[in-house]
Amino acid sequence: MFKKLFSQKQSQPDEADHPLTGLGLIPEHIAIIMDGNGRWATKRSLPRIAGHHEGMKTVRKITRHANDLGVKVLTLYAFSTENWTRPKKEVEFLMRLPEEFLGTYLPELVERNVRVQIMGDFDSLPTHTQRAVQKAMDETKDNTGLILNFALNYGSRAEIVQAMKAIAHAVKQGKLEPEDVTDQCIAEHLMTKHLMEPDLLIRTSGEVRLSNFMLWQLAYTEFWFTDVLWPDFDEACLNEAIQVFQKRNRRYGGLEGESK
Ligand code: IPE
Ligand code: IPE
Ligand code: MG
Repeated sequence: MFKKLFSQKQSQPDEADHPLTGLGLIPEHIAIIMDGNGRWATKRSLPRIAGHHEGMKTVRKITRHANDLGVKVLTLYAFSTENWTRPKKEVEFLMRLPEEFLGTYLPELVERNVRVQIMGDFDSLPTHTQRAVQKAMDETKDNTGLILNFALNYGSRAEIVQAMKAIAHAVKQGKLEPEDVTDQCIAEHLMTKHLMEPDLLIRTSGEVRLSNFMLWQLAYTEFWFTDVLWPDFDEACLNEAIQVFQKRNRRYGGLEGESK
């Protein structure tokens, strides 16, 4: 049985406003579909990769801000299992970005007590990408601040398929009974088994879809979509998303203020 790092329950809204921003209740886990890099570049007559490069700077900015706000987990969708279908040059550039990002900012992440993790098909990444990511995970493994969780070569359906296979094997071997296959059992076989579910999902660039991202985990997450392209996303945008989140009424299927 895996123990979750954090409770699903949120802190109470009557908590004192956050000293940094006055934002109040801060979501524990924020997940972001960082979209719109290509369009950002095209609008400026630049090659698409220029947008990815600029987007990397936004990752740094938003990581710092989330950490300062006291967010516990920031999951960033960096590369999907479907993104391999893009032109080879773009894919190669994207696979070099973790090295560049971590090569530049790893000391800062270490200093700020951020812990780097990844979820996705790690083994299918190019060796140079694996090496950079592994180094970052190793060097930050004892950090106790924000968990910066990159979804890299991640696809939610692949994740669920992998979980189902593992469960099927366990049943076949007699380690699990069919009755043991519960919500909790499935959650414990996903790549997020050590994390709480996201409280807030953000997608930039105006697209209103999930694109195979955390399909299981987002069951009761609050969604916030913005037309802002990822390279233009900044601290004020994140604050706005959090403020909207704070006004939402999360009922989880029940009725407000009433329990059995
Ligand atoms: C998001 O930006 C980054 C990745 C998917 C890797 P896009 O590259 O999808 O940018 P748009 O959607 O084409 O503008
Ligand atoms: C989703 O964006 C994947 C990432 C942000 C890494 P895409 O740009 O790949 O999604 P679609 O193709 O618009 O659905
Ligand atoms: Mg896109």
